[in-house]
Amino acid sequence: MNIHEYQAKALFAKYQIPVPNGKVAFNPQEAQAAADTLATPITVVKAQIHAGGRGKAGGVKLAKKKSDVAATAQELLGKILVTHQTGPQGQEVKKLLVEEGVEIAHELYVSWVADRGTASIVLIASTEGGMDIEEVAAQTPEKIVKLSVDPVIGFQAHQGRTVGFELGLPKEVIGQWVAMLGNLYRLFIEKDASLVEINPLVVTKQSKLIALDAKMNFDDNALFRHDDIRELRDLDEEDPLETRATAARPQLRQARRPRSAAWSTARASRWRRWTSSSSPAASRPTSSTSAAAPRRRRSPRPSRSCSPIRT
Ligand SMILES: Nc1ncnc2c1ncn2[C@@H]1O[C@H](COP(=O)(O)OP(=O)(O)OP(=O)(O)O)[C@@H](O)[C@H]1O
Ligand SMILES: [Mg+2]
Repeated sequence: MNIHEYQAKALFAKYQIPVPNGKVAFNPQEAQAAADTLATPITVVKAQIHAGGRGKAGGVKLAKKKSDVAATAQELLGKILVTHQTGPQGQEVKKLLVEEGVEIAHELYVSWVADRGTASIVLIASTEGGMDIEEVAAQTPEKIVKLSVDPVIGFQAHQGRTVGFELGLPKEVIGQWVAMLGNLYRLFIEKDASLVEINPLVVTKQSKLIALDAKMNFDDNALFRHDDIRELRDLDEEDPLETRATAARPQLRQARRPRSAAWSTARASRWRRWTSSSSPAASRPTSSTSAAAPRRRRSPRPSRSCSPIRT
C-alpha cells in the first residue's frame, strides 16, 4: 500500500525526522489558512497524488507571497497531472500539501528498501538528490552508496557515519545524518514498510537536514498488524474496478493493492536487482547471524565513493 507525502511526513515527524511545517488542504480557502500559519515568506504548494514525478509535471508550485497561495491552490486542484508514473490518463489532484519553503544548499537522496533475496534492509544514498535515482544509477552509479543491514542486528550508528563520510557530508551534518538514518530505519521496521524514500533530503543554508519529500510503501501482508497505517489508505488513488473486485474477497479487504502502487513495486524490484549486484556491501548483510553468511567483525565499507558536497 502506498500513502501520500503529507501522511508520510506526519509519520516522519512522529519519529523525529525533520520535515518542513505544513498542512494538508482540500480547497483554496484551507490552503490560504494553512499558509497563514506558516512562518516562512515563501510557501510551497504540492499536489498530493500517489504517483511520483509531480515536480516535472507542474505539481509543485512556489508562492513567493502568502497572498498568492489561494490562487496557486486553485490552479492545482482539479488538475489532471500526467507524470511518468500515472500513465497517459493522468491523476486528478484532490488534495494539496501547503508547507514552508526551505532554503536549500544541497539535495541528497536516501532510502531504505527491503531486499527479500538477501533478507536484509538496504540503505541507498546519493549526493544527487532531487533527480530520478534510476537516472543517477544508470548514468553515474559511482554516486550511489549502498549498505546492507541485517535486521536481526539492526542499523548501527557507525555504519551511518561511514556512509555519511563516504558521501562527503560536512562534519556539522554527520550527527543529524546518523540520527535521521536510525529514526528512518526504526520507522521502516516498526511499520513493516517495504520502502521509505526521501528525495530530496536537503542540507539547508543553516546546515540543517530536512526531508523535503517523503515516500512510503507498505507490505500488504503485514497491514493487518497496523490499524494506523490501514487508515491512511486513499480510495481516490485506486482503480475503482480493482477496489470493487477485491472488496468481494474478504481476506483481501485489508490488503488491497492500489493500482498506483504498481510503480513502487516495480521500483522496489529494480532496487532488489541493484542490491544483489556484485558490490560487497550490497551483496551481504553487514552482520548476518546465519551459518551461510559468516559474521564479520566490522561492517563492510559502503560500496562506492563520490565527490564531497559543498554547502
Ligand atoms: N518545502 C520546500 N521548500 C523548497 N523547495 C521545495 C520544497 N518542497 C519541494 N521543493 C523543491 O521541489 C522539488 C520537487 O519536490 P518533490 O521532490 O517533493 O516532488 P517530486 O520529486 O517532483 O515529486 P515526486 O516525489 O512525486 O517524484 C524538490 O527537489 C525541491 O527542489
Ligand atoms: Mg521527490
